Amino acid sequence: MPFDRSIKIAPSILSADFANFGAEIRAIEDQGADWVHVDVMDGHFVPNLTFGPMAVKAFRPHVKTVMDVHLMIAPVDPYIDAYADAGADVLTAHVEAGPHIHRTLQAIKAAGMKAGVALNPGTPAEAVAHLLDMADLICVMTVNPGFGGQKFIDMTAKVRALRAMIGDREVHIEIDGGVDTGTAPLVVQAGADVLVAGSAVFRGGSVDAPEVYGANIRAIRAAAEGPGA
Ligand code: DX5
Ligand code: ZN
Repeated sequence: MPFDRSIKIAPSILSADFANFGAEIRAIEDQGADWVHVDVMDGHFVPNLTFGPMAVKAFRPHVKTVMDVHLMIAPVDPYIDAYADAGADVLTAHVEAGPHIHRTLQAIKAAGMKAGVALNPGTPAEAVAHLLDMADLICVMTVNPGFGGQKFIDMTAKVRALRAMIGDREVHIEIDGGVDTGTAPLVVQAGADVLVAGSAVFRGGSVDAPEVYGANIRAIRAAAEGPGA
C-alpha cells in the first residue's frame, strides 16, 4: 500500500444491499472506488450493530483494492487479531474507545495492518498529537458515528489543524460522515485525502444499475478535485 495524498473515494458498504455484499463490493470497485470502507458497530460504543470478523472475512475475497475497516467498538484490543485474520488492510479504532489507544495502535501494527485512529466530532485534534508517529491514518468523524445518511458536521478547522500537525509524515486524513459533492471540497481544501461516502455513492444505484455508483463516485471526485481544491 504505497502512500500518496491523491483523493481516494472509499464507499461505505453500510449503504449497500445487506443481502448482496459480494456483488455490491465488485460493483463499486468496477465503478471507480479506491478503497472499500467497512463500518463495524457493536451496539455499545455506538447504538447500532453491524459486522463481526466472520462477515468481514467473507467480504475479503471480493475486495481488490484496500479494505478499510472502521471499528466503532469498545473494547478494541480483544478483537484486533480477529480483524487481522479477516484481512483488514487498514484497521481504525476510536480514541474515545478506551484509555489505551497508544497500546491499541501498537497492537494493530504488530498484527501487520495499517493503524488508523478516529475522532468523534466532540474530540479535539490535540487528542492525537502524541500518536502521529505511529498512526497511518486519522479519521475525522463529521457525524456522530452509528448510522449512515446523517447531516455533515463542519470539522474543517479540525482537519486544517491536523494537516499542520502531521507535516510531512505519511499519515492520511480520512473524512467520514455526510460527504457528498457539496462537502467534499471543503474537507479536501482543509487537507483530507480519503473521503468515505455511503449514501452519496449508493443513492439511486444497485448491482443492476451500477453505472449510477460510477456517476456518483465521479461527481464526488470531481467536486473534491475541482477549482480551489
Ligand atoms: C457512520 C459511519 C460512516 C457512514 C457514512 O457511523 O462510520 O462510514 O456509513 O455514511 P454517509 O456517507 O451516508 O454519511
Ligand atoms: Zn465509517
